[in-house]
Amino acid sequence: MRILVAGGGGYLGSVLIPKLLARDYMIDVVDLFWFGNHLPVEAGILHKDIFHLTAEDLHGYDQVIFLAGLSNDPMAEFSPGKNFIFNAAAPAYLAYIAKKAGVWRYIYACSCSVYGYTENELVDENRPAFSSYPYGISKLQGEQAVMQLADKDFSVISLRKGTVCGYSPRMRLDLIINTMFKSALKDNTITVNNPAIWRPILSIEDAANAYIRSVEASQNISGIFNIASGNYTVGEIGDLVKSAIEDQLGIKINLVIKHIQDFRNYKVSTAKAANILSFHSQGDVRSIVASLVTNMRMFADWNNPLYYNIERLKELENSSAEQVSSHAMAAGK
Ligand SMILES: NC(=O)c1ccc[n+]([C@@H]2O[C@H](COP(=O)([O-])OP(=O)(O)OC[C@H]3O[C@@H](n4cnc5c(N)ncnc54)[C@H](O)[C@@H]3O)[C@@H](O)[C@H]2O)c1
Repeated sequence: MRILVAGGGGYLGSVLIPKLLARDYMIDVVDLFWFGNHLPVEAGILHKDIFHLTAEDLHGYDQVIFLAGLSNDPMAEFSPGKNFIFNAAAPAYLAYIAKKAGVWRYIYACSCSVYGYTENELVDENRPAFSSYPYGISKLQGEQAVMQLADKDFSVISLRKGTVCGYSPRMRLDLIINTMFKSALKDNTITVNNPAIWRPILSIEDAANAYIRSVEASQNISGIFNIASGNYTVGEIGDLVKSAIEDQLGIKINLVIKHIQDFRNYKVSTAKAANILSFHSQGDVRSIVASLVTNMRMFADWNNPLYYNIERLKELENSSAEQVSSHAMAAGK
């Protein structure tokens, strides 16, 4: 089976792709490689923008996985225009040309951010999703666009993932547990911004397994699925990360509790993914911290801008603005 992974050079793709290769799938990755390339040499590489692909480029693939776009709220708010293009238009365009080219399955990386602010309910996929922020709106728009292409010959699976955490060769330190781990090791302190807020947490191993379950699901399955390892309050996550680090590394960590308002609050049911995809999570906060402890020498250069998506986006925007002004100077404008 041939699979094209768009945005496969990112945090999630860098863990998923070795697992797909180990199952003997033929994998090509189309990516702009904003964060470098940490993929195994066995993966085929197309270093380009999704919008530069045509239906002819997609002939011969069985499945396409979309993992691209601006992947968090700070990026979306920094560049709302790009956010709507990369998170809503790009997955729609890619699904449209994939279907045209005869690809039979499309898997879309959605997010539980689409649920916005909920109170005292365990949300399932039938609950109407409402977000008033650019990232959540665009992830929902992308999902709506790709889901409407589903039919008996074109399966579409959307995975609404909780916050992914854990070690990846393309590391991110801007995801809740990874951030707490970094500040615990760097400053001996974990800051909890609002202990009452609920977040579904997803270990990166569970996230990759949810994609494998989707790739290998019966051809007639389409649908939207919540994917998480568990629901936690941010206060509980802080306590669990602190005790896991203290136990595993034998150091003492301070906890600072704040009460900053948040615009996201939700806990999700993963029953549908268990029933239809046979997705059962294995990870939890302790296992995520264990993966960070094991690999911490790989990302101990804590301040590297590549680990913080918003810092990298600002660098990219600045360098393209410089290029535009130097072209304008060269043209005598
Ligand atoms: N990480 C999470 O916690 C999380 C949670 C829910 C959903 N998601 C979604 O999962 C997907 C993967 O997340 P991640 O953390 O691996 O993201 P990431 O930011 O690490 O990777 C995104 C990759 O997409 C590439 N890219 C972006 N736009 C592109 C374009 N137009 N053409 C080609 N390549 C492009 C980038 O170069 C990068 O390698 C994203 O769609 C994100 O919105 C992530």
